[in-house]
Amino acid sequence: MTEASPINSLTTLEQAMKTRKSDLTVQQWFHEQAKPYQELMAYYRCAMMEVETKFRVLNEAFSLQYDSNPIETIKTRLKKPENIIDKLLRYNLPVTLESIENYINDVAGVRVICAFPSEIDMLAEALLRQDDVKLVQKKDYIRNPKESGYRSLHLIVAVPIFLHDKKRMMKVEVQFRTLAMDWWASLEHKIRYKKDHPLTEQQNDSLLACSEIAAELDRRMEELNEGISH
Ligand code: GTP
Ligand code: MG
Repeated sequence: MTEASPINSLTTLEQAMKTRKSDLTVQQWFHEQAKPYQELMAYYRCAMMEVETKFRVLNEAFSLQYDSNPIETIKTRLKKPENIIDKLLRYNLPVTLESIENYINDVAGVRVICAFPSEIDMLAEALLRQDDVKLVQKKDYIRNPKESGYRSLHLIVAVPIFLHDKKRMMKVEVQFRTLAMDWWASLEHKIRYKKDHPLTEQQNDSLLACSEIAAELDRRMEELNEGISH
């Protein structure tokens, strides 16, 4: 999740508009939709808080039961308006709030970093067992890594947020990674996007090899941990 800080003021929206100055239609749309857009983003922030809290509670619960804290860190981010617009345009979708809600599944993102791969399954299962969490999509890039070598478990879940007069289901993208998977993904992203031009085949192969090494480290650490705890 490279997109940074949440949108919490109109200034950010204005900045986004400036970056897309050439696109008058989008600028006009943002002007007209400023209030409902902010409202929708507030709902996404609430959903992100709900999911983050669920993980903090699970961490406590596991620590009480097994004397271990499966979560190293939790990060949240709200997708920037310019990235939302870019994605809509990329997928040829109409620039409307409805298409953001219906088709952009990663407006709200929660990243959960664990120490060991087994903790990822444990947490994902525990989250999905909760009766107010609905699974929308699952992409298991741990069992089926991407061609780049990227590993992570991605879930799109829908959770309810309770507003003063209504309940609303909102989608949140949850990415589960081990420390090693996160380390690789962060460095790979830095290396890949630092250059103006695509990486050579050799550089890609090298990154892929590093990802295998990271996965091997995960396996060995998991074994060591099992040996100790059994
Ligand atoms: P996006 O438009 O990127 O959201 O693609 P998508 O909807 O096909 O989703 P996918 O689940 O494949 O990947 C979404 C996110 O996973 C990205 O935004 C990154 O955070 C991460 N990701 C996916 N592939 C890679 C990769 O090769 N390297 C790194 N560093 N991160 C990746
Ligand atoms: Mg994304």
